[in-house]
Amino acid sequence: MSSLTVTSKSNIKATITVPGDKSISHRSLIFGALAEGESRVSNLLLGEDVLSTMTILQKMGVKMSHTAETIKPGDILTIQGKGIHSLKATSDILDCGNSGTTMRLMLGLLSAQDFSSTLTGDASLNKRPMERVFEPLRKMGASFEVKEVDGKRLITVHGKKNLSGGSFTLPVASAQVKSAIVLAALGSGCAVDVTEPSLSRDHTERMLLGMGAPLSIKNTTVSLPATSGLKLKPLGNFSVANDFSSAAFFIAAGLIVPGAHVTLKQVNLNPTRAALLDVFKKMDGKIEIQNEQDVSGEKVGDIIARYSSLKGTSVSGQIIPWLIDEIPILSIVASKAQGETTIADAKELRVKESDRIKVMCGHLAVLGVNVGEKPDGMVIQGPSPFKGGSFKSHGDHRVAMSFAIAGLCSDAPVIIDDTDCIKTSFPSFFKLFEKL
Ligand code: S3P
Repeated sequence: MSSLTVTSKSNIKATITVPGDKSISHRSLIFGALAEGESRVSNLLLGEDVLSTMTILQKMGVKMSHTAETIKPGDILTIQGKGIHSLKATSDILDCGNSGTTMRLMLGLLSAQDFSSTLTGDASLNKRPMERVFEPLRKMGASFEVKEVDGKRLITVHGKKNLSGGSFTLPVASAQVKSAIVLAALGSGCAVDVTEPSLSRDHTERMLLGMGAPLSIKNTTVSLPATSGLKLKPLGNFSVANDFSSAAFFIAAGLIVPGAHVTLKQVNLNPTRAALLDVFKKMDGKIEIQNEQDVSGEKVGDIIARYSSLKGTSVSGQIIPWLIDEIPILSIVASKAQGETTIADAKELRVKESDRIKVMCGHLAVLGVNVGEKPDGMVIQGPSPFKGGSFKSHGDHRVAMSFAIAGLCSDAPVIIDDTDCIKTSFPSFFKLFEKL
């Protein structure tokens, strides 16, 4: 297991280009496979999560120019889409690794196939809740069997070509659940409406609309009419926008490391993803956006973050799904802000790659921060010096990267144990972190 030791820095000046977006990368592979024709995807994230999706699709007969083993940064991946009904049954167990997006989106897609498939994941994924996708997919006509074999959860999906549609109201805003239902509906041609309590990230809607799917979106409801015989247009030359969630760690470093000035090049600014910028601005963070443009249906721009005298804030309600993956790093930044920061309505964090509320609160307390754990969030009193220490990642990439950033402004070294997990979403993190 690798570990990382980080010591304090000041006056960081860096220009960083983070890799492609994880959510968009998964979707470009899946939707590219379902299209009719060739899609050429550049800037695909080569994190382990995305490579799991790629390998699973290839096991089901989808032809691509590279495999998980052969693809290198800078390569353009060609996907030969053969249509919505082109997937082939496999007796292999489909390993989703650490990736909740792979598992939940695949459960949706496989629900609409006229064969059965079995999925599994790593120790963390095998503990994460899947009932949230089983329930609507069962109502549509799919069935699921869950078994424990040698300590591994195996999920068998018994798909059905003719699923029945319907209206689904999700108890929690979730792009993964929404996308699973939309994929099941697309695969079987039935009509669905999916209503979320508040809007989650909308990459599925953007990409499918671009591919000619007759989706409509009204407030927090996504509707797909009955679509028998639908042919999705291929993605053509599609460039994955740079990942805001990866950029967030370096933006945070720019705000809290004394004298820092950090530029993140051409990052995805999709409003359902980049709400952390609004929170940082509300905290008096010096954030500037330059060179805005459109990249394959997403707005991107350069983000400049400078060392700032920050104040506490409160974050809750509808904005939470728009920064759900950034709350660990927000809690580090809030610890350096003057006054109280409250984070609420974020119970979902308890069922991510780790229980991020418990892990972050426990680790922040060890770092010397006055933090109170709440069932759905936390309350942080700042500003606080960081004492350093040794912190377990709990196999959670975002916990590991958050504490790497904390180490940059800590009075004593911060040691992060088990940093291998960072490769799931951001394999070039270490190289870019060196730049700081
Ligand atoms: C994702 C959606 C989010 C997010 C995850 C990726 C996606 O999960 O936390 O990292 O690609 O759809 P939920 O939609 O379950 O909140």
